[in-house]
Amino acid sequence: MKKLSALFAITFLITAPELLISQTKETSIMPRPVEITQQKGSFKITDKTLILVNNSVTAGKDAGIFDQYLSQYYGKSLEVSQNMQTKARAIKLYDVNDITLPDDAYRMSITPDSIRIEGKGAGVFYALQSLRQLLPAAKGAEIEVPCLQIYDYPHYQWRGMHLDVCRHFFTPLEVKKYIDLIAFYKMNVFHWHLTDDQGWRITIDKYPKLTSVGGYRSGTLIGRYTETNQKFDTIRYGGYYTKEDIRDIVRYASDRHILVVPEIEMPGHSMAAIAAYPEFSCTGGKFEVAKLWGVFDDVYCTKDATINFLEDVLTEVMELFPGKYIHIGGDECPKTRWKTCPNCQAVMKREGLKDENELQSYFVRTIEKFVNSKGKTIIGWDEILEGGLAPNAVVMSWRGSDGGIAAAKQNHKVVMCPGKYCYLDHYQGDRATEPLAIGGYTSTEKVYSYDPIPKDLSPEQYKYILGAQGNIWTEYIGDYKKVEYMALPRMIALSEVLWLPADKKNYADFVLRLKKHLAQLDMMGINYAKPK
Ligand code: ACM
Ligand code: ZN
Repeated sequence: MKKLSALFAITFLITAPELLISQTKETSIMPRPVEITQQKGSFKITDKTLILVNNSVTAGKDAGIFDQYLSQYYGKSLEVSQNMQTKARAIKLYDVNDITLPDDAYRMSITPDSIRIEGKGAGVFYALQSLRQLLPAAKGAEIEVPCLQIYDYPHYQWRGMHLDVCRHFFTPLEVKKYIDLIAFYKMNVFHWHLTDDQGWRITIDKYPKLTSVGGYRSGTLIGRYTETNQKFDTIRYGGYYTKEDIRDIVRYASDRHILVVPEIEMPGHSMAAIAAYPEFSCTGGKFEVAKLWGVFDDVYCTKDATINFLEDVLTEVMELFPGKYIHIGGDECPKTRWKTCPNCQAVMKREGLKDENELQSYFVRTIEKFVNSKGKTIIGWDEILEGGLAPNAVVMSWRGSDGGIAAAKQNHKVVMCPGKYCYLDHYQGDRATEPLAIGGYTSTEKVYSYDPIPKDLSPEQYKYILGAQGNIWTEYIGDYKKVEYMALPRMIALSEVLWLPADKKNYADFVLRLKKHLAQLDMMGINYAKPK
């Protein structure tokens, strides 16, 4: 395999030299810029270098974050100034609103005298991420970056990473580290999976037991899931985020041009919630917060009282998350209880619904109406197609691409995350040597090969594909270092899938850059799976 990819690299060098030379020999920017040309010479960043900002709050924040990075890893703290006329050697940042530029585009020109960056939207921030990746991979090193010209912009508008904080909990500081990674690769959505059977992780003032009861389980499955002979530890496990934690994380993400999409699961994956408030189930309980992984028959009852409860919950959620999207889950909801529940059957009769799939659709549509009335849009896993799609819902296609295709054909927006390419909880190498994972096999190369546009959509239809995301479910990921290990390097591959048009991708070139890039992760103390 190694020999083959080397051969491929050589062929590629011969056929498209202008594209590769700067990338392979000198720079290792991830994701690869759309256009990059390297020139002779270099720019030195010293303590005397200024960062100049053209009177823009956003660029000012971008500059501050970059400066903080320089200080942390290279011991340099640069002065940030708004005096653009100064003759000093400087990194000059300009927020521009040029309608001829694509969204979030930037231009960066590095010459021996200055670094000039013009960016639209998140463009200045993205340029500074590219610049970070040009810095030496050694703490405290002298900084010299090669002269070059970059013109760059993202292909997809949704470049996301998901994190399940329910199966295992990650502290606010760890969540921020994850956001740092998302930012470093110019991704722009953090899908925060906040509620599930094994834990409810977001404070809701009106229903304090969601966290005091639902936030903790009395044990956890030991080892891999099995149908029989399950063994559990007896360690109380849990945690949750206060509203202040959440506001702080949302602000932190926003400063890094990342939208946070909260997920509040319904009607399934709700054991933690109904353990706290069994009156919102079909049978009334009694339940405990799940210690086992999987799918559970006890789910929210579809009666009006539950809908009112969830609307109260969502009201508090929407106050915390200023973004447009609220993810309402919708996956893996068994209909077992609904079939024998008098309340659910009465709702079906009242609403004229012919089966439990339509009941699920009614449930989602009712919630959608409420969320829409607050000016927000719902997202749901592809099961929300069953029984009829809610009128304005965005579909997240995870059981392959079919759900995404069906939704796009109905003119609904879609985020792609088919398991085969985008589930980063799968194994990424040989099971015999890899740490325990949920199953599957999704190598970095497999992720890199992904094309979010399914073949059988017309150009009219594929404009509904917003982009894609990597999902990290954490049944078998008990600590943050393992989150990094599962994310990297696969999320880097995904970032490039989403940044470049498909015809500009080249795996051999990616592998060459990756080698150099990993040294920078080492410098930052970030864990990753070593490429084989
Ligand atoms: C999912 O993986 N159940 C969306
Ligand atoms: Zn019911």
